Amino acid sequence: MTRRKLIAGNWKMNGHLDHLRELDEIANAAEAHPDVDVAICPPATLIAPAVQRVPGLTIGAQDCHAEDRGAHTGCLAAPMLAEAGAKCTIVGHSERRADQGETDADVRGKAEAAHRHALTAIICVGETEEQRDAGEAESVVTGQVEGSLPPDATAANTVIAYEPVWAIGTGRIPTMDDVAAMHAAIRAKLSELVAGEADGIRILYGGSMNGDNAGELLAVDHVDGGLVGGASLSADKFVPIIEAAGFLYGRR
Ligand code: PGA
Repeated sequence: MTRRKLIAGNWKMNGHLDHLRELDEIANAAEAHPDVDVAICPPATLIAPAVQRVPGLTIGAQDCHAEDRGAHTGCLAAPMLAEAGAKCTIVGHSERRADQGETDADVRGKAEAAHRHALTAIICVGETEEQRDAGEAESVVTGQVEGSLPPDATAANTVIAYEPVWAIGTGRIPTMDDVAAMHAAIRAKLSELVAGEADGIRILYGGSMNGDNAGELLAVDHVDGGLVGGASLSADKFVPIIEAAGFLYGRR
């Protein structure tokens, strides 16, 4: 099974209107590499203007509420994000699991809401450093997959992002053997949960991915792309990651 690589940028709480100029070059790179899927998830305020500026680039959100409407001050519902032009949304990022106390059940509800409104859910999972040191990384992560994956997950509507919490924004990454082992474990768990779709669901690696390490990470079995934070904020840093994915495609 050939899975197209997906390189997704997560701008987190960074960027104002003037930052959208970075998207021009990113959109050009995406167009130059039609065999690679590229997405940028800016702050929600920038979704509509980003879509307007670069209509050819996939724009996504960073979170959505599990319900479609209601008394939830400050939250955004999936249909609102879809209306703004988002095509996908991150759910269950470790920063939200930590800062907002989101549980696996919450994350599953958000993914289901995304699916109801034709948004691809990028479901994030990942262990803390303490959990890895205690030898629990694999059980924690596969447990998160089990708890967060909606039963209606398909290769088209769901992407998993494995992001070790200790690798996010730190410049540290796991060994390639550890990445390979975790991605294989996630694939095996997907086979248990959604047998017919498991082979097609993309599993991204996230955590300090950059232009220097992307080639090596993206070549690991079952690494089907990257979820990129810091290095997605500028075209200078993000485009080399798209190119690394394109290079691998060329070698296939
Ligand atoms: P980072 O963030 O690339 O800055 O480590 C990744 C993420 O949190 O999605």
